[in-house]
Amino acid sequence: MRIAFFDSGIGGLSVLHHAMKILPQEEFIFYADEDNVPYGTKSPEEVLDCVDAAFKFLIAQRVGAIVVACNTATSVAVKIMREKYSLPIIGMEPALKLALDTFPNRKVLVTATAITITGEKIQRLIKNLHAENLSELKALPELVEFAERQEFNSAAVEKYLRGELATYDWEKFSSLVLGCTHFNYFKDTLRKILPPHVKILDGNAGTINELIRRTKIKSAQAENLSVEFFYSGRRVTDSAELARLEKFLIRLDKMEAIE
Ligand code: DGL
Repeated sequence: MRIAFFDSGIGGLSVLHHAMKILPQEEFIFYADEDNVPYGTKSPEEVLDCVDAAFKFLIAQRVGAIVVACNTATSVAVKIMREKYSLPIIGMEPALKLALDTFPNRKVLVTATAITITGEKIQRLIKNLHAENLSELKALPELVEFAERQEFNSAAVEKYLRGELATYDWEKFSSLVLGCTHFNYFKDTLRKILPPHVKILDGNAGTINELIRRTKIKSAQAENLSVEFFYSGRRVTDSAELARLEKFLIRLDKMEAIE
């Protein structure tokens, strides 16, 4: 099946990376809205316009399913896109349920973009999970900028994260949830800063499991992976740009084992 992965930028590669490992026989399209990244600091109306344009493009590519590999776009637009299009549309959900199921009655810090943490969707999730007293939300917008310029583990990244995470009483927390797909590139620095008992969780496996459930595709061996990359509707063919994307995937290989 031809499956599209869509994000504001290169964060969604972390979800695609997981899919490439377990569904290597499928045909993937990766759409990074590089002309409009970041989404997290825009207004919901602006993000909706961007998502609308991306969906029009992807539908014209005759894909069989779209994975919205972006928590921000999911929060703002997934419901509206599902009303508009009948193909399977799979969104992201911060892994709060996973965190609470794994570590009952322990607090969870959900990190995301400003739009995601102020949106209705996350409030509904917290309410449904009765997690009002067990969850805290934190926006980390700079990580999106660092990721886009491939600044993964510089002194500036560490200083930023140490500053943002300094005030939490970690004894009360079981985990930190990566509620933005751009944050997966920083697991090594986060691991360095957080106490060992605080686990780093993301929603990538949950999203791919949902994709498999909705489309009924099955995992199989494949000789050649097929991925086409697009930046805001332009096919990426330039070798320097393809090398840039490859560098992100190599980084994700390294981050995979860090919990
Ligand atoms: N990768 C995105 C997310 O998961 C959004 C980052 C941004 O564009 O601000 O929320």
